[in-house]
Amino acid sequence: MEVFQSSDVMRAWSHRKISAGKTIALVPTMGFFHEGHLRLMKKAHEMADYVVVSLFVNPIQFGPSEDYSTYPRDFDHDASMAAKEGIDVLFVPDSREMYPEAAVTRISVEPLATTLCGASRPGHFEGVCTVVAKLFHIVLPHAAVFGRKDFQQLAVIRRMVKDLSWDISIIGHPIVREADGLAMSSRNRYLSEKERQSALGLYTSIQYARKLVRNGVVEVARIVHEASTLIQSSEDNRIDYVQVVDQDTLAEQQEVDEHSIMIMAVWVGRTRLIDNGALFEGE
Ligand code: PAJ
Repeated sequence: MEVFQSSDVMRAWSHRKISAGKTIALVPTMGFFHEGHLRLMKKAHEMADYVVVSLFVNPIQFGPSEDYSTYPRDFDHDASMAAKEGIDVLFVPDSREMYPEAAVTRISVEPLATTLCGASRPGHFEGVCTVVAKLFHIVLPHAAVFGRKDFQQLAVIRRMVKDLSWDISIIGHPIVREADGLAMSSRNRYLSEKERQSALGLYTSIQYARKLVRNGVVEVARIVHEASTLIQSSEDNRIDYVQVVDQDTLAEQQEVDEHSIMIMAVWVGRTRLIDNGALFEGE
């Protein structure tokens, strides 16, 4: 596995592979790998001849009071896991490499980016789109793999790629969960043992909503109310939002249909977790 820090070196590598008629799949990450990241890497191997993983904790997608400086980092562990997955290149730029001067250009995908997580994290998706656009132009991938765990991020990126006519296949990978259902996340390490139990409320509420739908309930207000009550039955949990939205437009729905997903952000103690799931069929 090669490790590149320079964008020029990264791009030159990609140009060589593309000139030789090879394809490249990119998995953008912020590191601190868990099984979810590794499954995205496995999927990427199916999509192209070569797999590039980028590891960059992107400062411009964190708000001033968010966890940029404390975001978990462990380069050596990440590098050994990526090597075990047979990754061809680990691209690890630093902030000066990605943002040599104060960057003034931002990619904005309103209105998809201002609802849900965008409402409580202003500027977050602009930061995500801007860094992903830069990564696409440095790595030159044919395909890029993203997790459905960050469902809104995936929808926003799909839209950016479509609106700007980029020839890159965006692959959405199902959520990878712990055995008890908690969606894997680098932020789970912040949870105390008790909070780890309370965090199960997110997935349990999605399963409960699915059960209501199977029993014929279509009224979103009732589904959201019952799911919220379940989540709040743990004193550690404070809801940021719980909504049922159309999975393509992210528009809120009144009644459940086959495109509905339930999507949520919940503070568990001082850790903000996200989760989502389709209401008609399980993931
Ligand atoms: P990060 O949080 O490191 O996630 C990298 C990728 O892994 C994202 O596509 C995310 O959706 C996926 N992922 C994380 N946990 C997952 C799980 N349990 N199941 C499936 N996929 C999972 O998302 C980012 O980084 C950044 O915003 C980034 C896109 C790299 C831009 O900076």
